[in-house]
Amino acid sequence: MQANLIDGRAIATQIQWELTERVASLKSRGVTPGLAFVRVGEDPASKVYVGRKEKACAELGIVSETHVLPEKTSEAELLALIGKLNSAKNVHGILVQAPLPKHIRESVVFSTVLPTKDVDGFHPVNVGKLMLGDETGFKPCTPAGVVELLVRSGVKTEGAEVVVLGRGNIVGKPMAAMLYQKGRAANATVTICHSATRDIRAHCRRADIIIAAMGVAEFVKADMVKPGAVVMDVGVNRVPDATAKNGTKLVGDVDFANVQLIAGKITPNPGGVGPMTIAMLLQNTVRAAEQSV
Ligand code: GUN
Repeated sequence: MQANLIDGRAIATQIQWELTERVASLKSRGVTPGLAFVRVGEDPASKVYVGRKEKACAELGIVSETHVLPEKTSEAELLALIGKLNSAKNVHGILVQAPLPKHIRESVVFSTVLPTKDVDGFHPVNVGKLMLGDETGFKPCTPAGVVELLVRSGVKTEGAEVVVLGRGNIVGKPMAAMLYQKGRAANATVTICHSATRDIRAHCRRADIIIAAMGVAEFVKADMVKPGAVVMDVGVNRVPDATAKNGTKLVGDVDFANVQLIAGKITPNPGGVGPMTIAMLLQNTVRAAEQSV
């Protein structure tokens, strides 16, 4: 059996198309959605991610501004910039790209962004709203994108056994919280597996849906997957590759070549979850702008 591919690029394009009308409506009321990116230091992956997000904003007609600060920037200097962006009328969303340099506390930074401009969904108020099932908050983009992929691919989550691999704040924890809630595209029975889980394979073998977000290259092997299961790959891992020009390549958390022969549906990587993170960021920004008027 060959799994059906869940085409994240096509679904993200569809969502961006759906947003164009909302952006046009805002503009007709004199509001141009604005998103501020903040990047500290020269992490190569962060440069690529912010670049892609800027491009997507431009395509949709969201005005973006990017603030690049040197690696040695102090926490106080970063908080001062966020304070300015919090009060800027033309800025509806603020995204501080993670990871931040070690001397800056991410939790303090994310808590300083106004919850109403927190299009990343990382502020404790928005995290709390997610836990409470309060839909007025912003949800983190990557797990929200996974849910949207499941819905638009016709995957039923109601009553499904879901295994989330990884318990990070950006994906694993919010992912689980979205899927066990009561409501649309939820109502699943969720197990979170992590580095101290005794028998990850046994948990995975039971799962109707596996969401791999632990950051270990090609961790999910074919013998861990129930035939016909849905496999969502959130991982982005750089590994050595002697045949590549720069000596490395990017792979996901799923051994795609072999798992696709067992799974019912699977996200390619790249081209699966990645484009959805950006689509959800655009959606959150448009909503932030709508709520500002
Ligand atoms: N780093 C990796 N993923 C994300 C994300 O979704 N938002 C931010 N701000 N940083 C990230």
